[in-house]
Amino acid sequence: MIDRELRVQKIKDGVVIDHLRAGTALKILEMLGITGKEGFIITVAMNVPSQKLGSKDIIKIEGRYLSPSEVSKIALLAPKATLNIIRDYKVEKKERLKLPNEIIGIIKCSNPTCITNHEPQVQSKFLVISRDPLKIKCEYCETIMDQEEIARRLS
Ligand code: CTP
Ligand code: ZN
Repeated sequence: MIDRELRVQKIKDGVVIDHLRAGTALKILEMLGITGKEGFIITVAMNVPSQKLGSKDIIKIEGRYLSPSEVSKIALLAPKATLNIIRDYKVEKKERLKLPNEIIGIIKCSNPTCITNHEPQVQSKFLVISRDPLKIKCEYCETIMDQEEIARRLS
C-alpha cells in the first residue's frame, strides 16, 4: 500500500459494507436507522477511488450486525456491494451481495393505484428485468421502477 492511499482504522467486531455505489452510503445508514446517536463507532467514506467501480462508498459499523432484510435492502441500493463480517479483527465472511430475480415485500410500488398499495394482505412483488442499470417491474400493474425510484420506495 502506498503512503498516499486512504487508510481507515480496522474494526474489531462488526460489518464492513464495501463497494457501495458512490453516493449511497448516507441513504443506507438512514435505511438501517443509524443516526450516530447509538454510540457504536461508524466510519463512512464517500467517493473513494476504486479499481472496480471508478469511485465507491464504504461503511464500517463496529458492534452491530445486519438482518437478512437489511442485507436485501442494501443489495437493492448498491447491487455490487460486498458485505464483510468481521470478528476479532478478521474477515470471517465475505459476501458479494446478489439481487434475487424476484423481490417480495421490501419495496412499495410507485403506482398509487396498484393493488399492493391498497390491499394490506397483498405483498408487493417485482421481477428484475435489468441488472445494470437496475430496473424492476411490478408483477401486478407492470409499473417499471429504476434505481432512483427504488431508493425512494424502500419500505
Ligand atoms: N476491514 C476492517 N476491519 C478489519 C478487517 C477488514 O475494516 N478488522 C475492512 C478492510 O479495510 C476492507 C474490508 O474490510 O475495506 C475488506 O477487507 P479485506 O477482505 O481484507 O480487503 P480486500 O481484500 O481489499 O477486500 P475485497 O477483495 O473485497 O476488495
Ligand atoms: Zn404495482
